[in-house]
Amino acid sequence: MRPIYLDHNATTPQDPGVTRAMLACLEPGPGNPSSVHAPGRRARGALEEARSAVATLLGAADREVLFTSGATEANNMALQGVVAARGGDGHLILSAVEHPSVERVAAWLEGLGVAVTRLPVDAAGCVDPEDVRRALRPDTLLVSVMLANNETGVVQPVPAIGAITREAGVPLHVDAVQAVGRLRLDVEELGADLLSLSGHKMFGPRGVGALWMRPCLELEPLLRGGGQEFGRRSGTENVPGAVGLAEAARLARRSPERYRDEVLPLRCRLEEGLREVWPGAVIHGAGAPRLPNTALVAFPGLDGEAAVMRLDLEGVALSLGSACAAGTMRPSSVLEAMGVAPELARSSLRFSLGPDNDAAEIERTLEVFRNLAAAGEGAGARAGGAA
Ligand SMILES: Cc1ncc(COP(=O)(O)O)c(C=O)c1O
Repeated sequence: MRPIYLDHNATTPQDPGVTRAMLACLEPGPGNPSSVHAPGRRARGALEEARSAVATLLGAADREVLFTSGATEANNMALQGVVAARGGDGHLILSAVEHPSVERVAAWLEGLGVAVTRLPVDAAGCVDPEDVRRALRPDTLLVSVMLANNETGVVQPVPAIGAITREAGVPLHVDAVQAVGRLRLDVEELGADLLSLSGHKMFGPRGVGALWMRPCLELEPLLRGGGQEFGRRSGTENVPGAVGLAEAARLARRSPERYRDEVLPLRCRLEEGLREVWPGAVIHGAGAPRLPNTALVAFPGLDGEAAVMRLDLEGVALSLGSACAAGTMRPSSVLEAMGVAPELARSSLRFSLGPDNDAAEIERTLEVFRNLAAAGEGAGARAGGAA
């Protein structure tokens, strides 16, 4: 039986149309976009067409999109590139709930002498835009706030933050990895200056992503070499990957409606059912705007790590918090920033749905949870575990 895949925030299945586009790009044979002969020109044409499709998704101009190996590279490029362009000195502002590919870069830069302010979040996981205003300094180089959190799905008030950074003349970087295809995106409406996305979170290929940036922005490259990608990211381009990402971007332009009309009702049913099965279940970030596909739920009394394995045996694939933090017993830093007690954090499971899920899968998942509760795994639930 096909597993019930509820881990779309870790990675999404590759869309068959994406695979077809990549195969069609490979079929004619080799071609380096930097070569002047016909195969090279064909590869260049495919690459530029792909760039245009990604730009269209973001409401941006073609030349502003740089292809990368994924969002980790895009986030590194944004933070390291802006800091290095200003001589490595200054101040960064980020939220306390950023993905490690932002947080750990900031921590590393901090070790090199860059000042870093981490903005707190409230109990629902939201940044207060006024905290951004208060944190700004004359030497602030960049503000980095994600659009949607990978663990909770909480959507940050990025347009309000963008209005503040614009007024202050400080660039804003937005990690939009989890929002692409799930929410409608427009870089102008967000007030962003740089934005990261990743193919494998949007039904595209793994190992390819993009950094959008305003062309006037100064950015030192991470990778120096042959000067590809307008001199900003050297290395022979991954043309089939870019073509796959472009196809995923075309699909993503149409998918926010599917998330709203098809995925959100499934998530609502799941949350309602889980609350019935497990009295005392807590939905993290429930008081904030959230992605339509994500529910991070604490089940007081449940050993989250053991539950993920039990669920796997029952054919339900989901994560304990973030896939990147899974495997460690450390409670999620996102939940910590939200003030969630460590025991409750450790009982939390992340359900992240996609348009490929259906109502029968949700009912089957609820049945598995009913069995877990009946088997006594929910001792805390019956004792009315604290929220
Ligand atoms: C919010 C967020 N940013 C960045 C990344 C890193 O993306 P990639 O796997 O493309 O490096 C992830 C992946 O989990 C993510 O969820």
